[in-house]
Amino acid sequence: MILHKFKNQSELDRVAADLMLSVVRAKPNAVLGMATGGTPVGLYEEIVKSYQQGLVSFKEARTFNLDEYVGLPVSHAESYRSFMQRNLFDHIDIEPENTHVPNGNAPDIEAECRRYDEMMYQLGPIDMQLLGIGHNGHIGFNEPDTSLSRFTHKVTLKEDTREANKRFFNSLDEVPTHAVTMGMGSILHAKAILLVVKGQEKAEILDRTLNGAITTEIPASLLQTHPRVIVLTDCDVNYKLS
Ligand code: F6R
Repeated sequence: MILHKFKNQSELDRVAADLMLSVVRAKPNAVLGMATGGTPVGLYEEIVKSYQQGLVSFKEARTFNLDEYVGLPVSHAESYRSFMQRNLFDHIDIEPENTHVPNGNAPDIEAECRRYDEMMYQLGPIDMQLLGIGHNGHIGFNEPDTSLSRFTHKVTLKEDTREANKRFFNSLDEVPTHAVTMGMGSILHAKAILLVVKGQEKAEILDRTLNGAITTEIPASLLQTHPRVIVLTDCDVNYKLS
């Protein structure tokens, strides 16, 4: 793992965006793994700026998102498809058919998960997977548990995760109870992983992710087993090598 610490988030966003752009510049048909939530908004803004300045094209790039809520209409402003359109896809030259977000409204969610995995494995592996982290150590929506799933699957969101995401909705009742997420196997299959962690309130979980035991109770700790993880943060945390 490589840990880079930043004093301000705008600098962090710029570096994170540049890392993702460097993947697309080196390989125009790169496969990027995308995240939603508060964390990537600024770095998506930086990507859009670079695109508008003519510094990069996404004409051949493909994307796979980590997750999507189950049962939230895709047209809802907080569906992860809407989030991606609003924050990134509508502002760059990516072909709509090359952007993949799980369908949380599929009549057969199991079949949708299999379809998503098959497509990801056909087009992949993902060249760079962007991740945020939940306060409980979840990545994607792989929530802490006694065991974790390898493939895309439906999850019941933990109450603390729903509570954290309440800020995007009018009330807790509106936050979906379930989601579809890429599994840990798919995340760890990515060639490189970019973990972005913002806000000192995430310092403790980041410390346990980087320096603690590898445990399914902190899904992000499994990143310690991956050979190419870059962590960008504004938290005051150190990576201990022994
Ligand atoms: C989002 C995702 C989640 C978030 C995490 C942090 O696609 O997979 O793991 O990255 O919940 O969310 P924020 O960035 O809102 O703190």
